Amino acid sequence: MSLSSQSNRSNKKQLPALNIAMVGHAFMGRAHGNAYRQVNHFFDLPVQVVPKIIVGRDQKRANAAASKLGFEGATTDLKAVLADPSIDIIDVATPNDSHYPISMDALRAKKHVLCEKPLAMTLAQTKEMAKFAKKQKVRVGLWHNYRRAPATMLAQKMIARGDIGTVMQVRAVYLQDWLSDPKCPASWRTSKATAGSGAHGDLNAHLIDLTRALTGLEFDSVCGMQQTFHKQRPAGKGKMAKVDVDDAFCMMARFKGGAIGTYEATRVAPGRKNYNCIEISGTTGTIRWNLERMNELEVFSQKDTRDGQGFRTIMCMDDVHPYAPNWWPDGHIVGYEHTFVHHVKDFVEALIGKKPFAPNFDDGVVVQAVLEAALASTKTKAWVKVPR
Ligand SMILES: NC(=O)c1ccc[n+]([C@@H]2O[C@H](COP(=O)([O-])OP(=O)(O)OC[C@H]3O[C@@H](n4cnc5c(N)ncnc54)[C@H](O)[C@@H]3O)[C@@H](O)[C@H]2O)c1
Repeated sequence: MSLSSQSNRSNKKQLPALNIAMVGHAFMGRAHGNAYRQVNHFFDLPVQVVPKIIVGRDQKRANAAASKLGFEGATTDLKAVLADPSIDIIDVATPNDSHYPISMDALRAKKHVLCEKPLAMTLAQTKEMAKFAKKQKVRVGLWHNYRRAPATMLAQKMIARGDIGTVMQVRAVYLQDWLSDPKCPASWRTSKATAGSGAHGDLNAHLIDLTRALTGLEFDSVCGMQQTFHKQRPAGKGKMAKVDVDDAFCMMARFKGGAIGTYEATRVAPGRKNYNCIEISGTTGTIRWNLERMNELEVFSQKDTRDGQGFRTIMCMDDVHPYAPNWWPDGHIVGYEHTFVHHVKDFVEALIGKKPFAPNFDDGVVVQAVLEAALASTKTKAWVKVPR
């Protein structure tokens, strides 16, 4: 790692700087940029994370984003950024089809990479990326940020220590409604060439990652069903663009060891804004988490006395819960953006401490394998084994 320059900010401790170059500066750019700015304010790290430069496609817009998001500068020249030895981490916050080329270029330049999900467009690409990252001996991470809510961390801990027994079933849904209006314009998200798939790669990817993170289960085989309800969308100037990705995708899963799961991802469920919910049933209990009430964990345990049984709700913002004490006093809740701050904090600690970080590109390979197997099954209308 090249902890090259001292931060030139008014940092009393004069920590070595960890310089970030972020490619893309819209939705995820804002979320990641905020995380880089916040992380040293709330967590004690041995380095100062410096939002150094934004890489965009249009200099004027990149400049505006840099000034708004608190980066020191902006450019459209990714090559120059990759050649700059002072840049430590390349953050890939661009549409899905650019993850592979940008990450591979970054790896070639021996930069650490934090890439948005899904890792790439094909399983072959993800494998190549994971292999190359190892060869280059750099750190890589994938932005499956929902692993890092205090409540999902608690769920992981409770399941690992056997609080709900052996996991038998996973019920997961990720429901949104922003495409239920047929007049919602076409974008990179509605085209297979730029997105790979629709709700599936976008939302099921998170559910697949969350399942693995919370339960440790590995997918054995899957069976998918997809539908595109609105087959074209406005593309500006009175033109229409073809939609060739799914609006909704349902997937059944069998896990190694015998557990089973059901998954639903949709962007056309009126009223559901960002309803990312996972319920996990074991032999003696059930755990449920819903992003829209992200600080709470619902838990049912058959170990409770019969007359006291029922779902209880744990507010996961006390000082015993992961990340919580670094924010506010007990019960003072956190939100969506904090999961990204936690992600950066853990990635930086892993980088400095030379410890493992997950999810990494190997996890991205597994997620992509499940996504692709489910897509393949929609064609054959049969169960498909998830490749190892
Ligand atoms: N982790 C999450 O919760 C989460 C949420 C939303 C999106 N995402 C993922 O983040 C990625 C970006 O999504 P978004 O919502 O920020 O999209 P967006 O459309 O809001 O922003 C994309 C940005 O990338 C830039 N861009 C596009 N093509 C580029 C290229 N070839 N080179 C450089 N810059 C380019 C655009 O100018 C824009 O700044 C996607 O892969 C998406 O799946 C993750």
